[in-house]
Amino acid sequence: MVVLSGSNAEVMAKQLAEELNWPHFSIETRRFPDTEGYIRIPDEVIESIRTEPVVLVSNTFPDSGIIETLLMLEAIKDVRTGNLQNLREIGPQSLDDVGPGVLLAIPYFGYSRQDKRFRPGEAVSARAIANLLASRCDGIIVFDLHAPKVLEGLSVPVAFTSAMPELAKHLQKDIKPDFILSPDKGAIERASEVAREIGCQFSYLEKTRIDAHTIVHKAKDLDVEGKVVAIVDDMIATGGTICRAADALRSQGAVQVHAACSHGLFTGGAVARLVRYVDGVHATSSLANPRDVIPGGPALARGVKQLFTTLQW
Ligand code: R5P
Repeated sequence: MVVLSGSNAEVMAKQLAEELNWPHFSIETRRFPDTEGYIRIPDEVIESIRTEPVVLVSNTFPDSGIIETLLMLEAIKDVRTGNLQNLREIGPQSLDDVGPGVLLAIPYFGYSRQDKRFRPGEAVSARAIANLLASRCDGIIVFDLHAPKVLEGLSVPVAFTSAMPELAKHLQKDIKPDFILSPDKGAIERASEVAREIGCQFSYLEKTRIDAHTIVHKAKDLDVEGKVVAIVDDMIATGGTICRAADALRSQGAVQVHAACSHGLFTGGAVARLVRYVDGVHATSSLANPRDVIPGGPALARGVKQLFTTLQW
C-alpha cells in the first residue's frame, strides 16, 4: 500500500503512513496566477501507484480542497487504468488497467454540516460532495464526520473512524478532567465516549442556533462546582458554541474549562476569542491549526484497516 497526499493533509498522511508502516508520497500541487489549481503525480511515483493499492489522504476543505481532491483522484485513476496519453507523446500512451485499489481518506469532510434539506430548494451539500468523490474511488474513510447518516448507501463502501480515544487519552494526561460536557445534542455520542474512556461525569446542553454567529443554550443545572471541565465537540468554527457553553460552566462554579475537538477550523479569530473564555483549546491534526496537539493518524489507520476487511481486492 502507498499513502499519497496533496497540499492540504500532509501531516495526517504522514502520520497514517507511519502508523501502518507504508511509504508516503506527495503529489505535486500548485496554483496558476488566476488561482486555478494544478496537480501532477511525479514520474517516480507512477510505478508504485500501478503496483500497490493506494490511500489518498485529502481534505474537502476549503472549497479548493474539493477541486484538488477530485483532480488527484482523476490523475490516480488514469495512472491505474493505464491512460497515460499526453500531448507531447512522451513515454507510453497506454498500459494495462491494474484494476480497483484507490481509497480516499478524508480527515475533514467540508460541507458536512449541510447534511439535510432544512428548507425546500436547498442542496444537500454533504451528499452532493460525497457522490462526486465516490464516483472516482473504490472506498472512503471519513474521520469524525458531523452526521455519518448522510453517507449511508453511497456507491462505494465507507468506513467511519474517530479520534475520541486519542482525544480522551490526551485530556486525561494533560488536564485530568472531572467532567465532560457536550455543548449540544449532536455531540453527545462523541463526548460521552470520551467521558467513558476517562471514567468521569458527563452531561450535555441543549443548543439553538439563531444564525452562524449566534447560539443560545437552554439553562441547565450542571454539577460542576469546583471541577475541571472539558467541552468536547466534533468541530470548532467561530467558537461561539464553546464560548456560550463555557459561560454556563463558569457561572455554575467550574474552576477550569477546556475545549477539545477533532476539527479545529477556527474561523475569523476564533482562537483569540476562545482564550478569553477557556483555559485550553485542544484539536487534532485533521486540519492545519494552531492547537494541533492530538494525532489523528491512529484513528485514520483504524478506518483504513476496517475498510480493508470489507474489500475483495
Ligand atoms: C454543530 O452542530 C457542530 O457540532 C459544532 O458545534 C459547530 O459547528 C461549532 O460551530 P461554532 O464554533 O461556529 O459555534
